[in-house]
Amino acid sequence: MPATAQTNGVHTQQKDRSNLIPFSSRLKEGRALAQDVWSIFNAANLPADCINLGQGYMNFAPPEWVKHAAEDALNSVATNHYSHPKGRLRLREAIKDHYSPQFGRDLNVDSEILVTSGANEGQYSVFVAFLEQGDEVIMFEPFFDQYLPSVTFNGGVPVYVPLHPPKHEGSHSSSEWTIDFDELRRALTPRTKMIIVNTPHNPVGKVFTRQELEQIAAIAEEHNLLVMSDEVYDSLVFDDNEHVRIATLPGMWDRTVTVGSAGKMFAATGWRVGWLIGPASIIQPTLAATTRIVFCSNSPLQEAAAVGLEEATQRGFLDLQRKQYTERRDILTAGFDKLGMKYTVPQGSYFVLLDISNVKWPEDYPFPESVLGRGRDFRQAPRACWFIAMEIGVSSIPVSEFYCEEHTSIGENYARFAFCKDVDTLKQAVERLQKLKKYLA
Ligand SMILES: Cc1ncc(COP(=O)(O)O)c(C=O)c1O
Repeated sequence: MPATAQTNGVHTQQKDRSNLIPFSSRLKEGRALAQDVWSIFNAANLPADCINLGQGYMNFAPPEWVKHAAEDALNSVATNHYSHPKGRLRLREAIKDHYSPQFGRDLNVDSEILVTSGANEGQYSVFVAFLEQGDEVIMFEPFFDQYLPSVTFNGGVPVYVPLHPPKHEGSHSSSEWTIDFDELRRALTPRTKMIIVNTPHNPVGKVFTRQELEQIAAIAEEHNLLVMSDEVYDSLVFDDNEHVRIATLPGMWDRTVTVGSAGKMFAATGWRVGWLIGPASIIQPTLAATTRIVFCSNSPLQEAAAVGLEEATQRGFLDLQRKQYTERRDILTAGFDKLGMKYTVPQGSYFVLLDISNVKWPEDYPFPESVLGRGRDFRQAPRACWFIAMEIGVSSIPVSEFYCEEHTSIGENYARFAFCKDVDTLKQAVERLQKLKKYLA
């Protein structure tokens, strides 16, 4: 019913003005408008003292010496202004020095390195630069949720290939989540343009083996695919696992863009500094895209990230950080062991997948509508995560959210717990989680 308003004593009918301008249909794709899992399991919806192991950001600050570099950058003039769209030269040089030995080549700071506003914007820019309408992009499930809208906004069509968890009893290594290569081959069509690899993997923690990457590389070569290798957790590989960069396999440099993140490396996820490394043929078109999207990334924090990379090795920072994360992981998994629950031991990244299939709540437990169902088949994991957050006071994220509808059941038994939190918080979370025992079937 249109509202009426009185102007100069005359009643006129007013049109509903709340939706005057139709928004772009691209927002209807890629779950961009759906209430996402982050907003359901957001602090605002959970008890005030709930310990947040849901979201993957740290509850500690970047190292002091990196923060000081940021302060210094804010206190000088040039570093408060626009940088070159490729990124500040100091940061590109630091990236070159840090990564050249790992890639086994002398990276070119002018054409083979691009600084972006977080890994996320870098990935978005690659999609802008390379996808044509209808191009298919293969992603392994569970996938980092940003891939989906970033692909569909740019006309791409996501094609999902699940990683399969092991079926045996007891806990297992993330290496036991495997690719069915026949399934991967069946997913390929003449429209396949690109494949996204994420190692170490969020949320599984899997570090892809050389052999797995070689098989992916052979497929990429055979089908002329662009490979986006998301390696934002490359500094968080535990135990004696080897982080292999697919770009270093024979022939792969020319078709691979590797993605990195200062946010993950220096506990600075809000800084939004990331980078892409690849051949000029991939970096240059992507530079054209990023220049239109953000023009350049924020300057002072690029400068601080440069100092981080310059000094990380000499300060022994990355080794120390790996040790700290290993301790954090072990605190959490020891807590799950004590409960007798089954989980995936991550080889890298900072997530543990807990098998919540045996968590039982009272039949009449009042789950909100958003958890019960949102069109998607929201099964065990979301309810278990909600129940654990409300009754135990520790939040986590249902892994089913990182699958397409057809494959939701593969992840329905897992909840993702992030251990990028300080030791005290993790110990407290573990203590609370012991109360879950009475709800285990
Ligand atoms: C697999 C993966 N890729 C990319 C990103 C985005 O990284 P950034 O914060 O640098 O944009 C994340 C962040 O959680 C991630 O988990």
